[in-house]
This record gives sequence, structure tokens and C-alpha cells, in this order.
Amino acid sequence: MATLELRNVNKSYGAGLADTLKDIQLAIEDGEFLILVGPSGCGKSTLMNCIAGLESISGGAILIDQQDVSGMSPKDRDIAMVFQSYALYPTMNVRDNIAFGLKIRKLPQAAIDEEVARVAKLLQIEHLLTRKPGQLSGGQQQRVAMGRALARRPKLYLFDEPLSNLDAKLRVEMRTEIKLMHQRLKTTTVYVTHDQIEAMTLGDKVAVMKDGIIQQFGTPQQIYNDPANQFVASFIGSPPMNFIPVRLTRQDGRLLALLDSGQARCELPLGVATDAFDGREVILGVRPEQISLGAGEGNGLPAIRAEVQVTEPTGPDLLVFVTLNQTKVCCRLAPDVACQVGDSLDLLLDPARVLLFDAHSGERLDLSSAAAPLKDNVARFKGR
Ligand SMILES: Nc1ncnc2c1ncn2[C@@H]1O[C@H](COP(=O)(O)OP(=O)(O)OP(=O)(O)O)[C@@H](O)[C@H]1O
Ligand SMILES: [Mg+2]
Repeated sequence: MATLELRNVNKSYGAGLADTLKDIQLAIEDGEFLILVGPSGCGKSTLMNCIAGLESISGGAILIDQQDVSGMSPKDRDIAMVFQSYALYPTMNVRDNIAFGLKIRKLPQAAIDEEVARVAKLLQIEHLLTRKPGQLSGGQQQRVAMGRALARRPKLYLFDEPLSNLDAKLRVEMRTEIKLMHQRLKTTTVYVTHDQIEAMTLGDKVAVMKDGIIQQFGTPQQIYNDPANQFVASFIGSPPMNFIPVRLTRQDGRLLALLDSGQARCELPLGVATDAFDGREVILGVRPEQISLGAGEGNGLPAIRAEVQVTEPTGPDLLVFVTLNQTKVCCRLAPDVACQVGDSLDLLLDPARVLLFDAHSGERLDLSSAAAPLKDNVARFKGR
């Protein structure tokens, strides 16, 4: 178990090439589980390889248990890593692949056998132990790679999309197993994923990365409820947050966002604000579950009547698509709501939950002050 700290880590793959990692700063406590998410090519695997010592860093420092390991070789860092590309030993069978790290550490054979049996059972690969990697499917190879890491008790686990090749059912099972395992062992872990549910459910902390820059670092709830910018807001959540271009006006000390469904208009009250926002075109962010049905007379909120264009019953929810301000908007309604394409629904957007973003920079706007972008919010999440 260990703490992990990245201090202003930079990585360039060569002179003249743009930096792949830019001033990465984050710190996770002993036993914490960090999820790293971001679009393809943003630098996630590069960061993992730098932590593992497989790539050198161009600037900054990597500290494990407050010790600077930046110049240390991979084998001295006591890290177990599962690569995106499995990296199994092709000439060894599954049993030997899993046992490899234990043999190097000269564990007694009985302990090795016990550990191999334990992880093989956990990963449902007991029947594959005598096969070579070339005789396995991608998902099976991925589980063997996972087994090789889990057979060890290192200071740090690094998992680079360890479940991406598994079928949906096995993936869900493995997700729960990983969570149970972490609750039991409490080994500090960094875990890269593209999966929304994994990102929200597995991590104590989430780092959202784009173009080699950490956009936000916080708890899953902070990332979900209080995103620093439009990129983070759009990246987490499924179905994703709706982004509606709106014009703001100020009336009787209240700021209103103007919505138009084509058949009706509504002025959504957003709270008190300064004149700084009057007449401004911004992006209003509202998650599908923050839109509900109702005429809104009880709570004094104006509903907007809109025509149903598409319905998608997912089982637990009914997704209904309408158009607001010429933008497709997804509403997540109860599955028993009776509605057909062409029907009109009265929709309520929860004004306490909507977010505003600058139409150009995508930065969050703070309604409570005249200061336009929520700069200190970003700073708050970027650092420790
Ligand atoms: N060895 C290398 N030499 C030069 N450039 C590299 C090297 N490895 C990666 N890159 C570049 O660095 C950037 C980040 O790559 P990286 O593999 O870290 O992305 P990623 O976030 O893991 O993407 P994915 O989600 O597709 O796995 C990419 O532009 C990639 O082309
Ligand atoms: Mg990668």
C-alpha cells in the first residue's frame, strides 16, 4: 500500500513533438482508487507507463510513499500493471504467466500454487491454465493479464482498460469483483477506463484528462454534479448532459434563460445575478434526469410544452427526445409514462440543477458573482 503523487509531470516523446503530458498534478492517498478517463490519444497510457517507469518523464516528479521514484527502474517501484495490450509471455502457459512474478520473488511452490488457484478461480480461467496465450481469445488473454497482476501484492496496481475486451456480462461481474477485491486488499490503484459506469462506481477519485491536461480531479460526485467545464460535463454521464444554447435576460432582479420548443416559449428563472449576464448568449447544461413532466403550477416554475420526436424505452427509463432552441434534448422519464411520437409534453427543467457554460471557452459560469468563468473552481479541482 502506498500514496502516489504526481508533481508537475511532463512527458514529450521527442524534441520538436508537442508535450503528451502537460503539468500533471494529482495526489492519491494510501488505499485510494483513482479512475483516469479521457478520449483516445489524450495520454492515459503514457501516464500509466510513466508511473510504472516504462517511459521516462521529461519534467516534474513521481512520488510513491513520498519517495521520488522518477529515476528508478520499473522493477524497483513495486508496481503491478495490466497493459491495454495484455503483454503476456507467449511461450509460457497461463499457469506460468500468472506465477511468473511470484517465482521471481522466490515464493515457495505451495504458496505459488495456492495463489494461482485463487486468481484463476476469481477470473474464471481455471480451465485454461495449461494453454498458451496464442490459444486464447482476447477476453481470455485479458483475464490472464489481470491474473498475473492480482497474484502479486505490490504497493500499487496500474490497470489500463483491463475489462475492455470482455463481453458485457463478464465485464459487470469483473467490475464487482474488482471492487470487492479493492475493499478487501485496499491496494492503491490507478485504473484507466472508457466505461461510464466503471468511472462512477469504482473510483474514490476521478481524473478527467484531455490533450495531456487534467481537466478536473475530484470525487465521482464532484465530477458529476460540479463539473469544471463543458468538456468534463459532456464526458461523464450516460446519456450525456444536454447542452442548449440560450440567451439570458434580466428581469426584476432575476436572470431568465429563454427556451423555445417551436410550439411554446418559456423563461426559466435561474436566480439572482448581476447585469453582467444580461443579454449574454451562453450554453445551458441540463442532465436528462433533471427534466421532468408537469405543468409546474405547484412550485411556480414554468413548464415548456414540446413535441416528442423520438422515444427510446431502455427498460428502467424512457428516453424522450424533444427540440429546445433548435437543439436535440434528451429527457429521462419513468418507464410507465405513456407517450407517442407527435405527442406534446409539458417539461420542467430543474433550475436549481442547471449549469451554465461560456459559449466560447466552455468554462463554467458562476451565477452568483459577476466574475465570468469559475476560475477558482478549476484551480480547486486541478490541484490537490
Ligand atoms: N512511443 C511513442 N512515441 C511517440 N508518440 C507516442 C508514443 N506512444 C504514444 N504516443 C502518442 O502520445 C499520445 C497519447 O497516447 P496514449 O497511448 O497515451 O493515449 P491514450 O489516452 O492511452 O489513448 P487510448 O484511449 O486510445 O488508449 C498519442 O498522440 C500517441 O500517438
Ligand atoms: Mg491507452
